[in-house]
Amino acid sequence: MNIENKLAAMTIDEKVGQLVQLAPFFYVKDIQQQIFGHVRDLGISEERIYRTGSVLGIGSAKEMIEVQKTYLEQSTAKIPLLFMADIIHGYETIFPVPLALASSFNPDLAFKVARISAIEASTAGIHVTFSPMADIARDPRWGRVVESFGEDPYLNYVFAYNMTEGYQNDGIEKDGNLVSCVKHVAAYGKSEAGRDYNTVDLSRLSLLNDHLDGYKGSIDAGARMAMTSFNTVDYVPATVNKDLLDGVLRGILGFDGVTISDYDSLNQVIAHGVAQDSKEAAKLGLEAGLDIEMASTCYIKHVKSLIEQGKLDMKRLDEAVLRVLKLKDQVGLFENPYKGANEELEKACVGSKAHMDQALTVALECPVLLKNRQGVLPIKGKRIALIGSHAKTKDTNGPWSWRGKAAINTALDRALKQEGMDVVSAEDRWEERSDLANCDVIVLAIGEHSDESGEAHSKAGIGLKHEDVLWYQYAKSFEKPLVVIIYAGRPLVIEEILAADAIMWAWFLGSKGNEALAKLIKGEVSPSGKLPMSMPRHQGQIPIYYNHLKTGRPKKGANDQNPFVSFYLDVENEPRFPFGFGLSYASFTYENLTLSKRLMDPSDRLVISVDVRNESPVAGMETVQLYLQDEYARIARPVKQLKRFQKIRFAGHETKTITFSITLADLTYRDASGRSIYDTGTFRVMVGSNARDCLVETFELEEGRNT
Ligand code: NOJ
Repeated sequence: MNIENKLAAMTIDEKVGQLVQLAPFFYVKDIQQQIFGHVRDLGISEERIYRTGSVLGIGSAKEMIEVQKTYLEQSTAKIPLLFMADIIHGYETIFPVPLALASSFNPDLAFKVARISAIEASTAGIHVTFSPMADIARDPRWGRVVESFGEDPYLNYVFAYNMTEGYQNDGIEKDGNLVSCVKHVAAYGKSEAGRDYNTVDLSRLSLLNDHLDGYKGSIDAGARMAMTSFNTVDYVPATVNKDLLDGVLRGILGFDGVTISDYDSLNQVIAHGVAQDSKEAAKLGLEAGLDIEMASTCYIKHVKSLIEQGKLDMKRLDEAVLRVLKLKDQVGLFENPYKGANEELEKACVGSKAHMDQALTVALECPVLLKNRQGVLPIKGKRIALIGSHAKTKDTNGPWSWRGKAAINTALDRALKQEGMDVVSAEDRWEERSDLANCDVIVLAIGEHSDESGEAHSKAGIGLKHEDVLWYQYAKSFEKPLVVIIYAGRPLVIEEILAADAIMWAWFLGSKGNEALAKLIKGEVSPSGKLPMSMPRHQGQIPIYYNHLKTGRPKKGANDQNPFVSFYLDVENEPRFPFGFGLSYASFTYENLTLSKRLMDPSDRLVISVDVRNESPVAGMETVQLYLQDEYARIARPVKQLKRFQKIRFAGHETKTITFSITLADLTYRDASGRSIYDTGTFRVMVGSNARDCLVETFELEEGRNT
């Protein structure tokens, strides 16, 4: 298809239409679609509806075919619609929420999740998924931490990369693959006070060094689309921020695909006070390099008159339309407007047994074991009393699982019984019960419900619910071994229940979440999740993340008596559980941290090795983490930064030597212009089981060693 010729033959109206995205019910009236955001009458004529470019959300192959057919019959340009949707952690087979997936520290699983999501969703004729969300999330009050890969830029990079690879796989032209739209550019996760859609204000260096890596991961993997964020960057809404879209996204990150606004975010530039009206918003959007406008009508109403009045250069419109047409061409829509939609395949593969089995495999690696006193877990041959608000929960899908059916999930009590465990009682309603005296171990299941996190679901308080604390106190009063399972879409402050014998963080693990938990509780598999966000002791510590900058007055250890250092009077600085923390039924020790050289030239490769030993007879997996610190540079640098990790399987009592290799690229950072620079001098190498417990060595980076 010659796209340039196609463009040349289009009227301005037809061109503008390509930049408009509407919901399916605009085209076919009786379609009932769940659309997220403000659905309202957009006030556009029928004629214009059949001159739009893409669709947000579709429910099935049948619907897609109907919408596309109706559209093509009515439209003058006859350029097929592109269908986009939020396939975030599975289509109908629901996988762990992204924050849980990141806890697996297993990027292959991210690939797998994206693959199966793509295979299922593409049968419904969906071509683009608004995933991954690669926003750095350091404030657990923000509801969308659940959709993120957590607080660390490198972890975000790796997971975003693998998700995009999984979606796009061997080419977006092939059936069974989706275009990946990375979001939300940029720094949406920095919403002030953790309140969704709130102001974002951050330094240029923090934007470039902390917040871009996640998006970069997707872009490096070839993401063909990027979504702008609702927030401002440098006081300008991201959706119309030319410096951000042209300079940072297309310039520094080298993105050459299609940009799309978030839901109504072009129109919301007016509410930001940066455009007087929708006409000005349209002008700002196109000039900034925003291609598609999602769910508002600034472009469709005003771009033509802006061009006719000489207020907007036609070139900007043509560039945007060309990018959209190119994407449609790459997807293969000109050859087959119904690309992907396949009712037979849809029936056979959506939510299939094979996919559900994969959902179980993934879910097994995501829960995080935070405590396990005297091996109370796994529970073998004991009578269990299962109590708590979540004792019979099926609510394991989490937010953004609009196609997932929680009703088909297995309830926790059933899942335990299915594993042959002796559950003598299961009670999810609060009342005093004497039969707890007849069990050997109490399993208390508490926490959040899936509607307590996600978009527009932020919380000011992230403590445990009063009801859950009461459950805990009641359970504790029986003086039996006590295992607490916490379902959650974010880290919570759990000080009141810390004296439990075991604590398992269950997140929202998807369609097979409870089956996975049951297998872990029984000990069929050993837990291997690690925290992708620091778990605070107190809400007042937020934002809390391990890779903060150095301060001029650091507190030097717990015994530092100097009162003029950075500390709280009422709580320690350190989180309750650090980033990267998570236990196994196996137990690992680290020794012999060795560097291949102490003096490194910028052209060198440095090899770092460490011996990791499983001290227990139980098999398990450990994520070995490598952190670096640039001790002295032109600007303050983080106290440590994750640079590599490897998740390794160990047999009982096995020792393995793990090696990492790093190059200069791992020692650089961005200056304010986005250039990668480095400083010579001392670097600390830290290798361990989490961000707190590491062995330490140092090396010097010295110019000219090899010349
Ligand atoms: C708003 C959300 O911010 C975004 O993540 C999502 O992709 C769009 N709505 C479309 O549903």
